[in-house]
Amino acid sequence: MRHWWHDAVIYQIYPRSFADGNGDGMGDLAGIKSRIPYLSRLGVDAIWLSPFYTSPQNDAGYDVADFRDVDPRFGDLSDFDELVTAAHAADLKVVVDIVPNHSSSEHPWFQAALAAEPGSPERALYHFRDGVAVDEDGVTTEPPNDWRSVFGGRAWTQAPDGQWYLHLFDSTQPDFNWDNPKVHEEFADILRFWLDRGVDGFRVDVAHGLVKEPGLPDVGEGLDIEMLGTTRSPFFDVDGVHEIYRSWRQILDSYPGDRMAVAEAWVESPQRRANYVRGDELHQAFNFDLLVADFDAESYRSVIDAELTTVTSVDAPPTWVLSNHDRPRYVTRYGDGKKGLDRARAAVLTMLALPGSVYLYQGEELGLPEVLDLPDHLREDPTWHRSGFTEKGRDGCRVPLPWKRSGPSFGFGEAAGWLPQPSDWGEKSVEAQDGVEGSTLELYRSALALRRRDVPTKVAWLPSEADTLSFHNGCFRCVVNFGSQPVPVDGDVLLSSADLIDGALPSGAAAWFSG
Ligand code: NOJ
Repeated sequence: MRHWWHDAVIYQIYPRSFADGNGDGMGDLAGIKSRIPYLSRLGVDAIWLSPFYTSPQNDAGYDVADFRDVDPRFGDLSDFDELVTAAHAADLKVVVDIVPNHSSSEHPWFQAALAAEPGSPERALYHFRDGVAVDEDGVTTEPPNDWRSVFGGRAWTQAPDGQWYLHLFDSTQPDFNWDNPKVHEEFADILRFWLDRGVDGFRVDVAHGLVKEPGLPDVGEGLDIEMLGTTRSPFFDVDGVHEIYRSWRQILDSYPGDRMAVAEAWVESPQRRANYVRGDELHQAFNFDLLVADFDAESYRSVIDAELTTVTSVDAPPTWVLSNHDRPRYVTRYGDGKKGLDRARAAVLTMLALPGSVYLYQGEELGLPEVLDLPDHLREDPTWHRSGFTEKGRDGCRVPLPWKRSGPSFGFGEAAGWLPQPSDWGEKSVEAQDGVEGSTLELYRSALALRRRDVPTKVAWLPSEADTLSFHNGCFRCVVNFGSQPVPVDGDVLLSSADLIDGALPSGAAAWFSG
């Protein structure tokens, strides 16, 4: 049976930066609803909403204080219901984020845990421990182990009574204790709450982090913890997580329709990733390897081959991602300016020619670059302060979208947005690119329309020049020139990221050929 998510193009919406419906400078659900015609016209199959739940916004909503409500900044539950209805009426599926590794420190459970005694049932919902190295007043001065927070600094903060609690992210994001059956029950109920409201799927935040090794052992020397962990450790990719996903799968399968879940699992190898998408677990796991790959033929080919081999072994669909809200925008990653944009356009044509499911991040269809010169005092990413102001963090890919050539926030809303946009973003706006031949927006629209008509089914590599990749996907041929010289090509061009010059594909360009 073919499921919608097997070859869907899923568009990630970062609610605070997509569209501001009420003019307060912060994007919201009403803003998203108003742009559904735009999303339909773009040609995506689904939207994935980053968190819009009640939250103090210490990590832009990934710090949830109420998993069953909408933050007033973004609207309310009736706005959510209206958005789902409107999306479904436009034939768009709706995927929402679920954040099961941690809550906000403002969550009632954590507030109750702080107020309760050490050893109490309230504290057992999180990881509270006594520290080590007692001072003369009997208060511990060192945390229970050597774990570090992904955002910088140590992963433990001391409660007022001297116990320590674990937070792999910000100190306002305490980790749940998934050894506690109450946590399992709570999340089963939260899944049902949103499934009952009609969502088509979930994106599982830090899916690899929920279960910690018993005894919370030290990591020891020499473990280099990357942003979201690409190395197994006592807190990432511990085998016990799979039991959780097996139970979630049963919940999803018990609902009518074709509900799905996709894991954010940063793990050490494609083989480890495949464990998350075994037949009785989640439906997909993001493959982040293109998101971090260099723009060169060898890297791309090995990422593509590895993904196809991996998913085939567990009969899951491949997934592809070039951009998201945690990584520098790919235009900038690939060189910035014209070179970066050319390569980004070639990269997206390559990705969209591949079989499987594709995740797009809002604004990539406009060719937006990373904003590198945000004023420091406006930075909100906790990485900025937790790194002692040495890591700028992720705000540069989260700047509000430009919809119009002019206006206080280029059509994002009636007011200036929560982060300032570069002054030339009017020229990159939807209005400026709409209907303009050769614009990045029109390239995405054309590619998505063709992909919808000719759904890729395979990758058959074809002989090609050095620094070039060429493959047939069962419907059409894709040629990508990663090199610095033009490459002669032949055939009928369906679509290209740059004009061919005298029958040659320019440097940093890709084209699709019929037949
Ligand atoms: C992964 C999310 O993508 C990121 O934005 C967030 O900061 C962490 N998980 C913590 O929830």
